[in-house]
Amino acid sequence: MTVMPADLSGIDVRAEIERLRKERNAVILAHYYQKPELQDLADFVGDSLELSRKAAETDADVIAFCGVTFMAETAKILSPNKIVVVPDMDAGCSLEDSCPPEKFKAFREAHPDHIALTYINCSTEVKALSDVIVTSSSAETILQQIPADQKIIFGPDRHLGGYLSRKFNREMLLWPGVCIVHEAFSETELLKLKAQNPGAPIAAHPECPPTIVDHADYVGSTSGILKYAKEMAGDTLIVATEPHIIHQMELALPNKTFIGAPGADGNCNCNICPYMALNTMEKLYLALRDLEPRVEIEEGLRLAAKKSLDKMLEMASGTVGKGDLGAR
Ligand code: 13P
Ligand code: SF4
Repeated sequence: MTVMPADLSGIDVRAEIERLRKERNAVILAHYYQKPELQDLADFVGDSLELSRKAAETDADVIAFCGVTFMAETAKILSPNKIVVVPDMDAGCSLEDSCPPEKFKAFREAHPDHIALTYINCSTEVKALSDVIVTSSSAETILQQIPADQKIIFGPDRHLGGYLSRKFNREMLLWPGVCIVHEAFSETELLKLKAQNPGAPIAAHPECPPTIVDHADYVGSTSGILKYAKEMAGDTLIVATEPHIIHQMELALPNKTFIGAPGADGNCNCNICPYMALNTMEKLYLALRDLEPRVEIEEGLRLAAKKSLDKMLEMASGTVGKGDLGAR
């Protein structure tokens, strides 16, 4: 349920967050797609794999998770004794919505000789029905450890699955989900932008469709794109992922220029994740004050989902979180 706007007039929200984080012994984790003000006050900003690792190893009593709910649920699965709060419980994900657990279960049952390699952008129930979870920064490392003759179902992101399938020449049964944000980039507008900035490489998230990924010089997770921005030779980069990540690029690389890839209308607004955007400073303050909304997961379900997540952490152990899908 969305947190109702409270009357916070007269309250210094930032100072209160600082006070509460100490009082509660809380750690604030934020994804790169969060508003800059949330990224700036977080104890740690990272991609899905890095945030999962942080959640698993923290000794804080409270995890305030500024991201979408599947990320906060992952934190609770890995750190069951912590209180995990989110600014807004309605911060879902179109990939998660595309994959209802009962349909996924039936699909699995129809293909009993396949294992389920599942993108972390899914519900706890779907994680519990999966064999190994992957993130975009660990997918390649993990896929390469699966024997070539093992049949695989990959869900829910058909673009990430398709990208891996093409890159490794490995057939996989793909669940037909997409990210509405990465789906919104326009090939025509991207090519116009490229023509205006002829020397600038394009970095794309693998949730983008092939019409975008096929023009990219680098394909990788959010942390992978950030690393590429740091290491690339030139001074201008076209970024085909949710544009809030550009905040970290501008902080780390003030002399370089980052241009968000456009959507079909030629501006980037349609590429802002509407779920991530639900989180605000005010809602974070209320979550720390009230310790609500709180993520709770039934123990049997949590243990079932933990198996596929533990498998990911074990198989991704060679992935430092910065390692990635890499250049095409
Ligand atoms: P990363 O794991 O690359 O941070 O991606 C998460 C996500 O939701 C991208 O849309
Ligand atoms: Fe989900 Fe896409 Fe938002 Fe990532 S950007 S959280 S995949 S809707």
